[in-house]
Amino acid sequence: MDVVTGAFGYIGKYITKALLERGRDVRTITTHPTKPNSFGTAVKAFSYNFNNPDQLTRTLDGAESLYNTYWVRFPFDGQTYESALANTQTLFQCAKRAGVKRIVHIGVTQASVNSDLPYYSGKALQESILSESGIPFSIVRPTLVFGQEDILVNNIAWLIRTSPIFPIFGSGLYRVQPVFVEDLAEIAVHQSTSSPGAIVDAIGPETFTFQELVTLIADKIGKKPRIVKVPPAVGILCGQILGLFLSDILLTRNELKGLMDELLTSRELPNATTKFSDWLEKNKSTVGSRYSSEIARHFRWSAS
Ligand SMILES: NC(=O)c1ccc[n+]([C@@H]2O[C@H](COP(=O)([O-])OP(=O)(O)OC[C@H]3O[C@@H](n4cnc5c(N)ncnc54)[C@H](OP(=O)(O)O)[C@@H]3O)[C@@H](O)[C@H]2O)c1
Repeated sequence: MDVVTGAFGYIGKYITKALLERGRDVRTITTHPTKPNSFGTAVKAFSYNFNNPDQLTRTLDGAESLYNTYWVRFPFDGQTYESALANTQTLFQCAKRAGVKRIVHIGVTQASVNSDLPYYSGKALQESILSESGIPFSIVRPTLVFGQEDILVNNIAWLIRTSPIFPIFGSGLYRVQPVFVEDLAEIAVHQSTSSPGAIVDAIGPETFTFQELVTLIADKIGKKPRIVKVPPAVGILCGQILGLFLSDILLTRNELKGLMDELLTSRELPNATTKFSDWLEKNKSTVGSRYSSEIARHFRWSAS
């Protein structure tokens, strides 16, 4: 039996699918145990129970591997990077008490304690908590992850479908190396049986500048928006105004800086095979047909 955090979310869903395909029993830990369970009776859902470590330990009891995806994208509604780190510590301590043999942790490329971006420094601290947990571990650090439930690519496509103008922040020449969520899941599951202590990036086979990515999406869905380069501060302001109408946080200042600093790229060689351009061709009729809201997903999911 393995435990996957967030099987009703994004990356956790595909790790769960990959494990079930291998005949593993899977439990999930989630903030939404009553969310519709697309895996049916094959996956039993439990609450994170960070405030009840005995219960959390019981949930983890008997698990061979824990696949950890838990993190917060940005501080909201009382959830902060600090509380996420404290919760991570609790999760790993409970895993240790439960006798979990391996943790496969989903990090992010270029996580660093020296980063001035709290998402990236927080992710590095999360890795430190893991390495000090005393449990054999592997860390898989993806770049930008694309797939059906992705938010960023979907909402770029949604904006292209909705608006005759598409704002690009700064030069648009900063690069991304998108990795397919199912490839990432395969890499993560593979890590559960490889030598412990490994830290591997999960990197797609194609690299695009941000402008190339936007143009490709527009071409595939048959739209020709006017691309307008805007200073990052203006872009963030426009995003905030749009966010008011959509009741969402579209892109934070920190996320934009991470994107523009090319933190969603790797210095390693690609190890995933699915091309973003091929995926886009297959999904061009649906990608971006509906706006995806981070806030709705995590805080108002029943209304989404
Ligand atoms: N998505 C990407 O492009 C990307 C790129 C690089 C790295 N990563 C890393 O991959 C991991 C998983 O990302 P994901 O996109 O698959 O995330 P996700 O499905 O949105 O969430 C993963 C888990 O964290 C929980 N969670 C998320 N936001 C929360 C909040 N504000 N408060 C409480 N719990 C919260 C989720 O709860 P529920 O179970 O209730 O959904 C879920 O269990 C993260 O560690 C992230 O840093 C993601």
